[in-house]
Amino acid sequence: MSAHPDPRPIGMFDSGEGGLTVLKRARDLYPGEHYLYAADSGHFPYGSRSLSQVREFFLSFLDFFLTHNVKAIVIACNTATAAALETAQQKSPVPVIGVIQPGVVDAIHASQSGIIGILSTEATYQAGVYPSALKALNPQVKIVAYPCPILVTMVESGQTDGPLVEDRVRQCTHALLSHNADTVILGCTHFPHMEHIFTKVMNDQAVIIDPGLSTARLLPSILGPLNTTGEGSMTFYTTGDPKVALHIARILWPDLVEEPRQLIWDRTSLKTPT
Ligand code: DGL
Repeated sequence: MSAHPDPRPIGMFDSGEGGLTVLKRARDLYPGEHYLYAADSGHFPYGSRSLSQVREFFLSFLDFFLTHNVKAIVIACNTATAAALETAQQKSPVPVIGVIQPGVVDAIHASQSGIIGILSTEATYQAGVYPSALKALNPQVKIVAYPCPILVTMVESGQTDGPLVEDRVRQCTHALLSHNADTVILGCTHFPHMEHIFTKVMNDQAVIIDPGLSTARLLPSILGPLNTTGEGSMTFYTTGDPKVALHIARILWPDLVEEPRQLIWDRTSLKTPT
């Protein structure tokens, strides 16, 4: 690890707008860094896909990030972390981190009762990655898991407020709180866009863990000295429609200024339009 800050960007990935919650955390903590955010919105949602398909999609992004000379990659998507973290770490010459393990560590520390709830996509739920990572750290822990894809769809369409959102969040959290979970992991990076609703609905009945924040806090231990002088930057790419991506991103993160650039998926690699 060099003693000087490395000016190369940090790559961040999600199936859509969810990873912006991780990027926002990182930018708040390390505003002098450069970020390259890539969203596979053309294949959204990942949560209803098989892990092998998600892995295949993510590996194209791994190549994309490496050709853009990143110094590290954050898989800012729980589903893609579940599907591709190990493979990506084996293939990548730069560090690759996912959001699951950092969130698990914080949840274990936060829980008093040892009953931990997890909200996630269907694919993350089926993969069982959170329960096995939690059990590996503390075999005594009790786990309640509940998939809530409806919240992902709502966020991706810019819907993060109002009675309907509140109702759905209440339904999802009730499934955990009724089993006495005292700690709730927001195990999908889309969910922290609704964190204010989770806070309201759960009304201090459980600690909320945002694995994106846990992950962002770890970055200095992976990257070494961070860039603190000069302005950082963010470049945003999407395989979806850049206009739609910008419209939704600005609802979710109003001061976001960067206009997404187009990425084209051609089955073996990602290209920018010529
Ligand atoms: N944001 C993603 C996650 O953390 C997935 C959402 C989706 O594409 O279903 O799992």
